Amino acid sequence: VRRWSSWPAPSSPASLPWRSDMRRPVVAANWKMHGSCATVQEFLEALLERVPQNAEAPEVVLCPPYTMIAAAAVVATASPVALGGQSCHWEEKGAFTGEVAPGMLVEVGASWVIVGHSERRQHFGESDDTALRRAKAAQQAGLRVIYCLGETLEQRDGGETFAVLERQSSVIGALEPAGVVVAYEPVWAIGTGRNASPEQAQEAHAFLRGRLRALWGPAAEGVRLLYGGSVKPDNAQALMRQPDVDGALVGGASLDAVSFLAIIQSAATV
Ligand code: 13P
Repeated sequence: VRRWSSWPAPSSPASLPWRSDMRRPVVAANWKMHGSCATVQEFLEALLERVPQNAEAPEVVLCPPYTMIAAAAVVATASPVALGGQSCHWEEKGAFTGEVAPGMLVEVGASWVIVGHSERRQHFGESDDTALRRAKAAQQAGLRVIYCLGETLEQRDGGETFAVLERQSSVIGALEPAGVVVAYEPVWAIGTGRNASPEQAQEAHAFLRGRLRALWGPAAEGVRLLYGGSVKPDNAQALMRQPDVDGALVGGASLDAVSFLAIIQSAATV
């Protein structure tokens, strides 16, 4: 059982040596391209009635589409639920049609951003290089980053999982460890209903922890590693019980307040 009641805020400077039992879980909702201003407010109202509100509770982050963040902030401000964007550009402003700057996310109430999601990599040409540029700019604007990586089914079947994770994680060393959460999202588990087994998740997370140690030294012990890919109320606890699984990045099951809350409660009891 991990203890994290005395966990310092993740973005605070780490004057103490990092201890693995101080990793406060993070449960983040990635709404992808779903929802509306009305549904995000209803969702938050329902969530806030039941979400654990103490310092020992998991950190909860909601990342709706950009257009809904301001509406979400009306309900979420001064609540335990933080808001995030699903990507951001690396420039502060400019001729980048369709993009959003980190400072624009901050302005409407976001304090987090997802970067490098596999759907960005698959459909919109995201690379390790562009993901890193986005993440760096986000950190400079004061956003905390959920940095996503993970292998495809073809890569897993071809025995390339660790080589892919090694390549994708190699750029992360350029970021500030205190403001990064790493999300392992095997592409074959996203939206398929086929989650990684707890053992598969732990194996990948332990590998990633080793990579982060090589990049960051002891600070890697304090970095939260989230699992994402078909996380549901009935598998969340077994996944989050693994020693290097420090929370979840949830897609489909985060669209419903009851199922998202059940996942948050699973994180609270590991
Ligand atoms: P699902 O939970 O719908 O599989 O999505 C996972 C994901 O991509 C979260 O970022």
